Amino acid sequence: MKTFQITLLKGDGIGPEIVDQAVKVLNKTAEKFHFSVTYDEALLGGAAIDATGQALPSETVEKCKASDAVLLGAVGGPKWDSLPGNQRPEAGLLGIRGALGLFANLRPAVIFEALKEASPIKPEIIGDALDIMVVRELTGGIYFGQRGRDTKDGVESAYDTERYSVPEVERIARIGFEMASKRNKKLCSVDKANVLESSRLWRATVARIGEEYPDVELTNMYVDNCAMQLVRNPKQFDVILTSNIFGDILSDEASMISGSIGMLASASLGKNQFGLYEPIHGSAPDIAGTGLANPLATILSVAMMLKYTLNIPEAAQAIEDAVAKALTKARTADIHTEGMKKVTCEEMGDLVCELL
Ligand code: IPM
Ligand code: MG
Repeated sequence: MKTFQITLLKGDGIGPEIVDQAVKVLNKTAEKFHFSVTYDEALLGGAAIDATGQALPSETVEKCKASDAVLLGAVGGPKWDSLPGNQRPEAGLLGIRGALGLFANLRPAVIFEALKEASPIKPEIIGDALDIMVVRELTGGIYFGQRGRDTKDGVESAYDTERYSVPEVERIARIGFEMASKRNKKLCSVDKANVLESSRLWRATVARIGEEYPDVELTNMYVDNCAMQLVRNPKQFDVILTSNIFGDILSDEASMISGSIGMLASASLGKNQFGLYEPIHGSAPDIAGTGLANPLATILSVAMMLKYTLNIPEAAQAIEDAVAKALTKARTADIHTEGMKKVTCEEMGDLVCELL
């Protein structure tokens, strides 16, 4: 029997409770599809700061590197908000992405049939289905560029730098084109090339890589227009390829179109099959421990792990199907509608297991 080693980074806020539900679902899936999983936990974010003084202890990086895949909850919270930027929980998250070389972030925005009415977008705009894949560059750009503060003539300033090298754009563009060629063969590269030099280099590089993929239709869109088009006509998109910061913003927007940010999974991939899987939502400290959290984005992240790292696509499909069924039977608070049974985070985890 195949055994996989998974490192769990539960993190802060609702992180531990959503990861626990996802682990339960992964264990049930393993039983059903005849593989086994061993787990090791490591500290990240605020939990790591409290225990070790560092948001990303080196032991965490070692444990992640030694595993087949990583499952992450979420990091951050008001408790650590006053720390300097480079010591915040979020710095630990960026640190682990960087340390593991996870440059490609896949964020699928799909709408489940049962959740159509939860979308703030009119049903006639959504149509039968919505299936957008946001491919976000994850280890470059302004998140990792030079930053600092200085004071000149008594006036304090702060700066962050957006910088992309050609190889960085090339490798994420290839991921985008590969993804599009397996889907509806449409890639929309999103930038701000009417203003930013880094975007002009991005656009030219994507166009050049596009020549290797003649079957994929490449379009370019400015990010402000894309933010508008996502609401006006989301169905026009298949794969959206974009930079770190634009991807951060647009993926939150795309998630809401699909009903709730509590539903969206993500995969962060490096050069080989290794990946880190996490919901795109945050640690929601205000609802931690109340049972209000929605574990489905983390459960769907496990499905992505089965697809992209563990290579058991039929198990991934089984989880997605079980989630779709669960949504017809019960809802967590964030996606609850009148007449539907309301369940806690744990009850939702149990329901998905039952339906597997
Ligand atoms: C995300 C989050 C992170 C990001 C934060 C928590 C640093 O918003 O994964 O989208 O900006 O990448
Ligand atoms: Mg974000």
